[in-house]
Amino acid sequence: MHTTSVALVGLGSYLPPQRISNEALCERLDTTDEWITSRTGIRNRHWAGPGVATGDLAVEAGHRALKSAGLEAGPGAVDLVVLATTTPDNPCPATAPDVASRLGLGPIAAYDIAAVCSGFLYALAAASAQITAGQAQRALVIGAETYSTILNPTDRTTNVIFGDGAGAVVLSAASGQDEAGLLLAVELGSDGSGRDLITIPAGGSRQRATTPAPDADDRYFTMRGKQVFTQAVNRMTESSQTVLDRLGWAADQVDWLVGHQANARILNAVARGLSIPAERAVMNLDRVGNTSAASIPLALADAAGDGSLTPGARVLLTAFGGGLTWGAVALTWPDIVAA
Ligand code: UT7
Repeated sequence: MHTTSVALVGLGSYLPPQRISNEALCERLDTTDEWITSRTGIRNRHWAGPGVATGDLAVEAGHRALKSAGLEAGPGAVDLVVLATTTPDNPCPATAPDVASRLGLGPIAAYDIAAVCSGFLYALAAASAQITAGQAQRALVIGAETYSTILNPTDRTTNVIFGDGAGAVVLSAASGQDEAGLLLAVELGSDGSGRDLITIPAGGSRQRATTPAPDADDRYFTMRGKQVFTQAVNRMTESSQTVLDRLGWAADQVDWLVGHQANARILNAVARGLSIPAERAVMNLDRVGNTSAASIPLALADAAGDGSLTPGARVLLTAFGGGLTWGAVALTWPDIVAA
């Protein structure tokens, strides 16, 4: 039986211009550059300015990904938009239809995915499954976040970690089995019993915006860092190993490990657990921080831009986030220029 393959054919990214250094955060929070760099590896992050929403970043990254794929933003460019985000423009409706409309893509299917930091891998899985099922030929998959809008300004732990940004890829139906860029394996998982480890307590149906008004702090993003740390290492290592086993890849056959840029110590531990040398783990969190659903496409754009990712390279993506959710995806790198 003939089965449709799915190939990555374009990659784009966008960071809002305002860069926030560790030193800038030290001016208003009880923290130090030494603590932030030694505990997380982060030195800078970008935050969107007032009035800039997630959809604005997503449109920029979407434009660039289409350009990288050799497509004009306009009707017929793609027939599906999937947007992963924790910070949609509004609680209702989803942000993806507006992004599709602003890119002039026509009346195509467009929806959001809420899987926090694993969102981009969930979005890749959903879009590639729709292509494989013949429901779409080409999809724009975006991870975009403005965490600066949900951080509690008094919470030093989350403020130093999270950044804003957007990254996007174009996926396309492909017939060949051996062309570069093919998605080769997808593995996803979740454990809702850990829902309180990463959460915005208010604003949903459990703690409504109506009376009694929720505690102001409950409207902000919260994370129990220590518990999350251990889970992140274990889940990303396990799901990556599952994908490697499924493909019959040994650790030394992985050219690049592109993990969710949560924390340098987490990424090093995952690489160690998989017996992949740390030099083959892509790391750009020093410049962008943890950008949640945008993290993996931003890391890919960085590694493609500096020439690390070369056509045919074997790439293993892995992420972990609120939900709890996690996943891993394997692909071969395509012959593209990131925009
Ligand atoms: O993206 C989704 C997944 N997210 C993650 O994977 C994040 C996982 N967690 C982490 O990356 C780490 O747990 C953190 C970076 C959040 C925290 O690092 P840690 O080494 O686990 O620190 P900790 O929470 O155990 O805190 C150690 C100390 C505490 O003080 P005491 O109790 O030892 O006196 C904290 O209050 O560091 C303190 N602390 C800070 N100190 C200076 C916490 N945040 C800061 C800060 N500056 N920004």
